[in-house]
Amino acid sequence: MNHPPIVAIIGATGAVGVEFIRCLEERNFPLAELRLFASARSAGKNMTFRGQSIPVRELTEQSFGGVDIALFSAGSSISKKFGPIAAKAGAVVVDNSSAFRMTPGVPLIVPEINPEQINHHKGIIANPNCSTIIAIVPLWPLHKINRITRLVAATYQAASGAGAAAMQELMDATKAALDGRDYPPTVLPHPYAFNVFSHNASVDPVSGYNEEEMKMVNETRKIFADPDIRISATCVRVPVLRAHCEALNVEFTSPIEAGTVRDILSHAPGVKLVDQREKNYFPMPRDASGQGDILVGRIRNDLSDPSRCSIAMFVAGDQLLKGAALNAVQIAELLVAKN
Ligand code: A2P
Repeated sequence: MNHPPIVAIIGATGAVGVEFIRCLEERNFPLAELRLFASARSAGKNMTFRGQSIPVRELTEQSFGGVDIALFSAGSSISKKFGPIAAKAGAVVVDNSSAFRMTPGVPLIVPEINPEQINHHKGIIANPNCSTIIAIVPLWPLHKINRITRLVAATYQAASGAGAAAMQELMDATKAALDGRDYPPTVLPHPYAFNVFSHNASVDPVSGYNEEEMKMVNETRKIFADPDIRISATCVRVPVLRAHCEALNVEFTSPIEAGTVRDILSHAPGVKLVDQREKNYFPMPRDASGQGDILVGRIRNDLSDPSRCSIAMFVAGDQLLKGAALNAVQIAELLVAKN
């Protein structure tokens, strides 16, 4: 890899792409050149990085010459087609889609949890699903001292996870509802204004679980390198623009007290405690948005488990940052530090 590297963003005009640019800028990522790619629709547009205007180019098979690190967030089918082309051309791909996450031999990395996996890539590294990252950053330091045997999660997921068009749909649908106008949804499957609906991922007709829920199950097991953790998730969209919340019910091997959990999480990397019972102030998407930590609160022993092995908590994290762009840029930082 050149020092400093040439970095390409694939899907630069999307909700995550814009945050890639911002993270690289804010974190002073050492790079020699930034190249921006999107679909033909965006070719000719310009985007600003470190005060310079950079043209957006149409992604083609020839886009990767000289590129050292390619940050992908243009959807799974683009990653499946162009990820291997980029890797063959010599780039290390950090892919935000689900295309390669469960592929054996492809590291699936959360830098606070399994940074050592950076040494095992063969040209492609996967960035986990946003709901998975937001749940497991605070769970990992607990799992390390008292193994988690079971996790039951319920998500409250923002529009941002479905991309920039879904965020626009939420705003337009809300305006229309306030004006008393009809707004037939075109991006998400159900009316979004003042509504809550099951995640738009496809549902397995046999198990009843949707793909988002199974990502939380399978990715957590891979990242924790613990195939036996029992996990069940219910994933839901709520009318919030960005930042997902999750109610987590966690069962540990041995009894654990809420105070111990609070102590451990008060100095855990990537975690911020927001747990003010006296003020009824707990994690909210508004506070989670635009910053990189996972906010954790409502930490309490689960009343329904007399063994005191179970903890309930509520978390919030910026889906576009730690759930996507920030985690990917942190992976790219590990790559640079390694070389
Ligand atoms: P474009 O803006 O040109 O459509 P989001 O997740 O917010 O929906 O963004 C998706 C990103 O993926 C956008 O940057 C989008 O570019 C890009 N994209 C979509 N289709 C393609 C394609 N065929 N080739 C390259 N980039 C694509």
